[in-house]
Amino acid sequence: MSNQAKLELDGKSYTLPVVIGTEDEKAVDVSALRADTGYITLDEGYGNTGACKSKITFIDGEKGILRYRGISIEELAEKSSFVETAYLIIYGHLPTSAELQKFSDLLTSNQNLHEDMKYHFEGFPSSSHPMAILSAMINAASCFYPDLMQGDRSHFDEHAARLISQVRTIAAFSYRKSVGKPIIYPKNGYKFTANFLHMLFSDPYDDYEIKPEVARALDLIFLLHADHEQNCSTSTVRMVASSQANLYASCSAGVCALWGPLHGGANQAVVEMLQQIHASGDDGSKFIAAAKDKASGKRLMGFGHRVYKNHDPRAKIIKKSCDEVLRSLKIDDPLLNIAVKLEEVALRDSYFVERKLYPNVDFYSGIIMRALGIPVEMFTVLFAIGRMPGWIANYKEIADDPKGRICRPRQVYVGQSLNSYVPMSTRK
Ligand code: CMC
Repeated sequence: MSNQAKLELDGKSYTLPVVIGTEDEKAVDVSALRADTGYITLDEGYGNTGACKSKITFIDGEKGILRYRGISIEELAEKSSFVETAYLIIYGHLPTSAELQKFSDLLTSNQNLHEDMKYHFEGFPSSSHPMAILSAMINAASCFYPDLMQGDRSHFDEHAARLISQVRTIAAFSYRKSVGKPIIYPKNGYKFTANFLHMLFSDPYDDYEIKPEVARALDLIFLLHADHEQNCSTSTVRMVASSQANLYASCSAGVCALWGPLHGGANQAVVEMLQQIHASGDDGSKFIAAAKDKASGKRLMGFGHRVYKNHDPRAKIIKKSCDEVLRSLKIDDPLLNIAVKLEEVALRDSYFVERKLYPNVDFYSGIIMRALGIPVEMFTVLFAIGRMPGWIANYKEIADDPKGRICRPRQVYVGQSLNSYVPMSTRK
């Protein structure tokens, strides 16, 4: 296989290096293209742009493969926990029992917000979307731990653990505020996900009973969301981190990017779509017809993916978990029946087949979260809790790279050519 690509431009011939990844992913290195030829590449939406080399996550979208640090998502879903997987993603290897214990201890000792941070919650209207609160509060953490801002990375492990642990505390506090209930502090002795459920649903006078199957289902959702290579939010984190902004600022930007309905916001959008279909009495067929009609402005939410042109492996695992959770909690959710019907119809419909549109991770995750009693506005927040290890690992990869440069794409300018300033009095 050639390790060079040839390019003809303006009658001249150029050679460009070819880079081949561990799993035979091939890229043409265009980093010297402009200097050599005066041309840049144009790739709107970055569908063909490799923005970095990374050792964290591998996806083969054609085959439906997802691996964190080389381990398949199916194996991790079956054998690991969110906390262990978070360690794997950030530090590059499965922890020994001593390493896992140390990491868990760090998560516990950093789970409480700085007491002064609590007052920030008072300033938000109770109708605030929790994603807005989450990004604001993560960024606010920069004010409380200024060593990071001065570029001191000696406490990186502690900051990483604090972020993973406190994003959960912030999420729970913002939920409690939105329903007018008192804040519940985290409790030592609870595991990561059980503690989150405790902070969400306990009351000062009554501890919430944590069912193991509920904690396990939520832990699995976090694990399945823990990283997904260079998606919109992770690329945002890397972009911000490349300017040497601190860890909290970079991850806060990731939360904002995740919020949109084409990305993490899709889990909320899926349930809202299913609720609308249910309320309208449609069995799903009318909605499918609308989703195929570009003029309708509708899409089948939870379907399609930029990278997966086959089943999203996370969706398969989530669907199985969804069936188990609903069975175990004895919940008969009509939205599940609608989702199953939509999937069946779409997978047989030539529009979806030709475009290789399959259910993605968000298609069934919302139905599980609903069954666990989590309000729909919190769904994307839960995605953010899960994605935090991936953002931190990507931040670390940037920060650890001695050859790292600020990310700064170019553009092809298509606006007005040189023009003159017109005084106000003569403007039409
Ligand atoms: N419903 C109907 N048509 C669709 C859908 C859909 N969900 N997704 C893509 N298409 C069509 C699209 O209209 C286009 O058709 P045509 O070729 O005729 O113009 C074709 O399929 C290719 O779509 P695209 O928009 O160019 O694909 P993309 O790679 O830019 O977008 C996506 C990927 C995930 C944003 C898109 O599939 C989508 O909007 N899906 C619904 C939202 C969703 O579920 N997002 C969650 C993604 S997974 C979790 C995450 O990463 O956050």
